[in-house]
Amino acid sequence: MAIPSNINPEKVPQHVAIIMDGNGRWAKSHGHDRIYGHLSGVRSVRESLEAARELGVKYLTLYAFSTENWNRPKEEVEALMDLLVKTIVGEIDELDANGVRLDAIGDIEHLPESCKNELQGGIDRTKDNSEITLILALSYSSRWEIVEAIKRMMADGVKAEEVNDNLIATYLCTKNIPDPELMIRTSGEQRISNFLLWQLAYSELYFTETYWPEFRKADFFEAIAEFQGRERRFGKTSEQIILKDK
Ligand code: FPP
Repeated sequence: MAIPSNINPEKVPQHVAIIMDGNGRWAKSHGHDRIYGHLSGVRSVRESLEAARELGVKYLTLYAFSTENWNRPKEEVEALMDLLVKTIVGEIDELDANGVRLDAIGDIEHLPESCKNELQGGIDRTKDNSEITLILALSYSSRWEIVEAIKRMMADGVKAEEVNDNLIATYLCTKNIPDPELMIRTSGEQRISNFLLWQLAYSELYFTETYWPEFRKADFFEAIAEFQGRERRFGKTSEQIILKDK
């Protein structure tokens, strides 16, 4: 699919984050179990990554499994972990061939051994790729991340007067990764759900009714086109932004 003409290639966000939501509802509405929804969501992951790469997005972060998701029924948690392993095993050659660098944020130590191993193998294998970085948020929640950051700052003996935005950012899982300019959430829900609370401070939020398993390249492009139509003011006035752009 060609890049639509309403997208300005000069104004593509560097980093897009996605809350992939609606797998369960989509599956139910088609008479399947929830796990079928997750399996079907893999195609949407592939299409979003492809669209992002073609546009020149440098980082794509996907909320694949939250800290709270551990509380789901055991069979669903196991199926998601299994799907993660199978997806990495099945896709890693193509990811590598396409210059995708795999990365992960979250409490990775908490993942089952097979998951940790495949993930780490994929991260190591693709570490020198530079087309785009695909970041999987796994066993991740923003409050967990912030609590961990504070603990490590205290362990490092950071003094109160040394604490500022930049220092805190270096203690987060996303150190060295620019904040997302755009966050997409599918399925009609309009909330952040403990995802990148610090990093989304100035992000544009885009909500679509489409359930994740139906999210296609065209939907990704549509989100980018809408993002490009927004004015990002960062607390300044519209006039200041227009003057700066001239
Ligand atoms: C949210 O939908 C989705 C998840 C918790 C899992 C996302 C996982 C995938 C899309 C699988 C493939 C991903 C990778 C990276 C291999 P939900 O279950 O909360 O849906 P609901 O709100 O309709 O119940």
